[in-house]
Amino acid sequence: MNRIISTLFLFLSTITFAQTWSNDVAPIFYNKCAQCHHPGGISATSLTTFNEVSPMANAINTYITNDEMPPWPPNNNYQQYVHDRALSSTDKTTILNWIANGTLEGNSANTPPPPVFNNGALLGAGDLEVRIPTYTSKAQIGHDDYACFSIPSGLTANRVIKSVEIIPGNRQIVHHALIYLDPTGNELTDSIGGDCSSPALQTTTLIAGYTPGATPMTLPAVAPLKLGIPITSGSNIYFAMHYPAGSFGEQDSTKVIFHFYPINETGIRQVYAAPIIENWNFTLPPNVVTTVNGSYPAGNAGLTNNVSILSVFPHMHLVGKDIKSFAITPATDTVKFIDIQKWDFHWQDFYFFKHMPYLPIGTTIKAVGHYDNTTSNINNPNNPPITVYPGLNTTDEMFLVYFHYMLHQAGDENYDMEALMTAEVNNLLKDENANGVSIYPNPSSNEFSINFEGKKGDKYSVIIYDTQGKIVSTVADKLISENTHITATWDGNTFQGETAKKGVYFVSINLNGTFLSKRIIKN
Ligand code: HEC
Repeated sequence: MNRIISTLFLFLSTITFAQTWSNDVAPIFYNKCAQCHHPGGISATSLTTFNEVSPMANAINTYITNDEMPPWPPNNNYQQYVHDRALSSTDKTTILNWIANGTLEGNSANTPPPPVFNNGALLGAGDLEVRIPTYTSKAQIGHDDYACFSIPSGLTANRVIKSVEIIPGNRQIVHHALIYLDPTGNELTDSIGGDCSSPALQTTTLIAGYTPGATPMTLPAVAPLKLGIPITSGSNIYFAMHYPAGSFGEQDSTKVIFHFYPINETGIRQVYAAPIIENWNFTLPPNVVTTVNGSYPAGNAGLTNNVSILSVFPHMHLVGKDIKSFAITPATDTVKFIDIQKWDFHWQDFYFFKHMPYLPIGTTIKAVGHYDNTTSNINNPNNPPITVYPGLNTTDEMFLVYFHYMLHQAGDENYDMEALMTAEVNNLLKDENANGVSIYPNPSSNEFSINFEGKKGDKYSVIIYDTQGKIVSTVADKLISENTHITATWDGNTFQGETAKKGVYFVSINLNGTFLSKRIIKN
């Protein structure tokens, strides 16, 4: 009986209280879409307000139903990663129901304040900045432009990198940027043909990548876990840039900012980045799907060291269909790295593991992928299809899986990598945009007092976001001001009641429909 009543109540409540933008939907868009869909973001379409989102309802419905937005190729049931972008099934249902019920706005005074985005350098000036010259995209309609730049770093001493921030010069046309270190300084710039996808020398190593919505690579850099990537004096920085079709005539000058450990810093564990899985020996005949495998090391003995894996980066070109990578330990356990069921050349990334997988001596690393060289692959560069071979051009194919890894130490698997990487986002820009909000102390290691001026009777909400636009804490939820001076206190905790990690946050305020914001630093 009880169940019948509560079912009935649930049913009635869905009818009477249909989901609204202000109460249910806005927080999902802030969390999962706004990082790319905001003014100045990668997408030309801003999706942060009701007036921006509601006219796009049909398109949003299609993209979400087909799992095309947010772009997140890895299968989260296989492995978990730092900075996961996927929509939960509850969020998905909420958005789709909201659209089906006619995209109601609700009371705009209840709309939570939106996240704040920073299109400049998040981590500050750093120790070395290397920039490509201003480049004008040659991507005509239907043709993407791939250009490579080899730029001297000017380094006169060997250093160890702890963070890398890639900042696109023009967020709207940089689809991805891959950053390599060339210790020889001999790589060449290739910006003529529009199809340069990777460097020419085996000694040049990929260390970091930018895709829209990505955060800087911040390796944990405080004891007990100090990680670094060495860079030698005289190295070149090699940029592999991808400008999508339709960006013709637009200009870009992407830069990369490196943060180094102090010279002579001790206790740093070296991180290696390498294409551990490589297969250059396959043929993809036309009109069929072909399976390609990779395995490391060769032979049956397996790895000769115990290894901890930080990240995985699978790489194929346009004929790629799916790819999976895992390892088999001597005890025949499977260690899962990544499963991409629908390969998308446009969304490639280093996926950092929430917890580092451990590979004991004797383990073999494997990958298996499929290539769809038929006409049903809409990305197939050839119509009719022709035989495709491995090679460096985008119209050739590749089968690579890169990893960031290091020699294992006891306890590596227990580190919370998301917490440690976020904690590194710390030594940062001063606040330029105070907006009438004053916060003290700032930085602070526990409480923040957030102060702004309004009128008696003003309605206000105060939300703390992280730099990914995710809600950390709701400090004030639709309160009515009793005074002209309004104070809200953030206790430095997340809404789950845990101490918020060290790093940069944004305070965002809705004061009677006016949005105010300010950056704060927790340390
Ligand atoms: C990681 C970045 C990223 C995230 C996160 C993201 N998008 Fe997108 N979205 C893009 C890019 C890039 C495009 C390509 C078209 C463009 O340049 O506008 C796009 C296109 C779209 C389009 C088509 C736009 C148009 O003008 O036709 C819609 C609709 C869309 N996204 C909805 C969403 C929704 C809804 C979410 C959140 C649930 C979301 N996106 C999350 C990057 C992103």
